[in-house]
Amino acid sequence: MDVNKIYCGDSETLLKEMDSNSIDLIVTSPPYDNLRHYNGTCDVCWNRKKFEAIAVELSRVLKDGGVLIWNVNDKTENGGKTGTSMRQALFFMDVCGLKLNDYMFWRKKNPMPQVKQPRYTNRVEFMFCFVKGDKPKTFNPIMIPCKSAGLHYKSTAKNIGGENGRRRIDYNVNQEMVDYQDWDMAVAPNRRIFETRNGEKIKHPAVFPIELPLRHIQTWTNEGDIVLDPFIGSGTTALAAMSLNRRYIGLELNQDYVDIANVLIQEKLGK
Ligand SMILES: C[S@@+](CC[C@H](N)C(=O)[O-])C[C@H]1O[C@@H](n2cnc3c(N)ncnc32)[C@H](O)[C@@H]1O
Repeated sequence: MDVNKIYCGDSETLLKEMDSNSIDLIVTSPPYDNLRHYNGTCDVCWNRKKFEAIAVELSRVLKDGGVLIWNVNDKTENGGKTGTSMRQALFFMDVCGLKLNDYMFWRKKNPMPQVKQPRYTNRVEFMFCFVKGDKPKTFNPIMIPCKSAGLHYKSTAKNIGGENGRRRIDYNVNQEMVDYQDWDMAVAPNRRIFETRNGEKIKHPAVFPIELPLRHIQTWTNEGDIVLDPFIGSGTTALAAMSLNRRYIGLELNQDYVDIANVLIQEKLGK
């Protein structure tokens, strides 16, 4: 498969054309529990069987040390959460053999207030972070200022050196620390309307903020690496990869969304 291209079709089929161990990072947001109707296409295409078939393929195409970011959330059904996100996470671990490198969370800066539900306002979505093999082959963490920078500490550390397994340590707190695992990002405004090939006016209903793929691509890849999004929608992951000089492959079922993605990519290329 060529890089820097969006392919239209079902990911389950398209992924079979991809080489094993060829992708450095997968960052994606699949349909959530059929919460939205992507112009009717999801009704027939998204269910547990489809997820499992795609999950197996995603794990196959990932390189050793490659990372998969799975941004999902659950539907509320019969008064409770479906738990689909967690079932999917366990499938990646138990059946596909990926390791859960971390739980990560997207904390929405501007969530919809909760009404008439016996639970707190939902403002997080999962960004499960899996790795193939032992550990990520690339980790360029986002650093943030450390609140206690410059403070001097004396302490005894357990289980490090010394006969009784304790050793005195004496250190200055660094200026910076690795960022937290929950990221504050606003929901993408997505006000732009596009015209389809048959004259319909549409917009993609579930665009994620560009910061989401940007931060993950920065963290888990280096320049020139290949980033795959098997549910690329309006192309946000491709735009993020282009900004960071990474190569991308996008897969998307709905031709209208592929067209939107290609318009945005051409605009970014200045064409
Ligand atoms: C949550 S949206 C992703 C949106 C994307 N992150 C963006 O910023 O525009 C999920 C996308 O998956 C697509 N999709 C659903 N089933 C698919 C399948 N079997 N193969 C490929 N794409 C699929 C939908 O059409 C939809 O655009």
